Amino acid sequence: MPSTHLPSVELHLHIEGTLEPELIFELAARNKVTLPYRDIADLKSRYEFTDLQSFLTLYYANMAVLQTAQDFADLTRAYLRRASAAGVRHAEIFLDPQAHTVRGVSLAACVNGVAGALRDSQAQFGLSSALIITFLRDQPAAEALDTLTQLIAMNAPIIGIGLDSAEVGHPPIDFVEVFDLARAHGLKCVAHAGEEGPPEYVWQALQLLQVSRVDHGIRSLEDPLLVDYLVQNAIPLTVCPLSNVRLRVVDTLADHPLQAMLERGLLVTINSDDPAYFGGYLDDTFAAITRTFNLTVDQLAVLARNGVRAAFIDDDRRAELL
Ligand code: HPA
Ligand code: ZN
Repeated sequence: MPSTHLPSVELHLHIEGTLEPELIFELAARNKVTLPYRDIADLKSRYEFTDLQSFLTLYYANMAVLQTAQDFADLTRAYLRRASAAGVRHAEIFLDPQAHTVRGVSLAACVNGVAGALRDSQAQFGLSSALIITFLRDQPAAEALDTLTQLIAMNAPIIGIGLDSAEVGHPPIDFVEVFDLARAHGLKCVAHAGEEGPPEYVWQALQLLQVSRVDHGIRSLEDPLLVDYLVQNAIPLTVCPLSNVRLRVVDTLADHPLQAMLERGLLVTINSDDPAYFGGYLDDTFAAITRTFNLTVDQLAVLARNGVRAAFIDDDRRAELL
C-alpha cells in the first residue's frame, strides 16, 4: 500500500541550488577554478541571507564551477541520490540555462548534462523526473526568447518553462511573448510569483502567462480575491517553507502562513527550492514543518496528495503515486 504521508513529489527544486559546498570544492579542483573561499567552513559561513538578492549573488557565483556536461550530470545524480533517500518518487527540476551560457557554457552542455542524468532516474534511483527550464526575469525577455527558440530547435527534452531570479521590479507581463511561444509548443508554464513580489505579480502570472502552477505564491494571502481565485481554480502553489525562512520572507518557521494557507483551502505543495543553501532536503523540510506546526497525519496526507495532484504526469503515473 502506498504510504500517504511520505513526501513523494518535489515540484520546486533548482538543480543549481543542490550544489553542496563539498561538490563546489571538488568541481573547482577538477576544472581548475580558483574559489574565493579558504575552505568549506569559510564558504558555509557565508550562507546567511538577508533577502532573495543576497542569496542569488552567492548562488550565481558558485555556479562558476559548473562547466561541462559531466559536471551537470554529476550535480543532478547527487540530487537524485539524496532525493531518493528522502522518499521522493517524482521530481520536476528547474534549470537556469542563462546563468551558464552567460559564462561561456554551451546550452547543450548544461541541458544535456542534466537531462542525461534525469533520463536514468527511475532505473538508477527509483524516481521519475522531468526538466523545466527557468528564465531569469532580471535579464531581458529577448534573451529568454532566444534561449527558448534554441531549446525548441534542439528538441530539448523539457516539459515546461518557468520564471525565477530577482522578482521585485521584474513583473511577469514582461515575458508574455516567451510564455506564448512555450504554450504554442505544448510546454507547461509555471512562474515564481508572490515570493518577494506583490499579489499583482501572481495575478499577472495567472492571467498573462497562463501558468498552471505558481511557485511560492505566499504573498497571495494579502489579496482575498486572489486566494478565492486560486482555491476555485485549484491552482497549486509550490511552497518552500525553509527557503522562506532563510530568505527572510518570514521571520521564523512558526511565523510561516502554511496552516492559514491550508485552512483557506489552497492547493499547497511542499518543496525544498535550493536545499544546499536553505538547510534541508524534502525529508528535512517535512520534519521541520511537522514539528513546528504539529501537523496531523491527515494534514501530511493532504500535502503529499497535493504534490501528486499538481505534478505534470499522466493519469497512470498519478494513480501509481497516490
Ligand atoms: N526565487 C527566485 N529565484 C530563485 C530562487 C528563488 O527562491 N531560487 C533560485 N532561483
Ligand atoms: Zn525557487
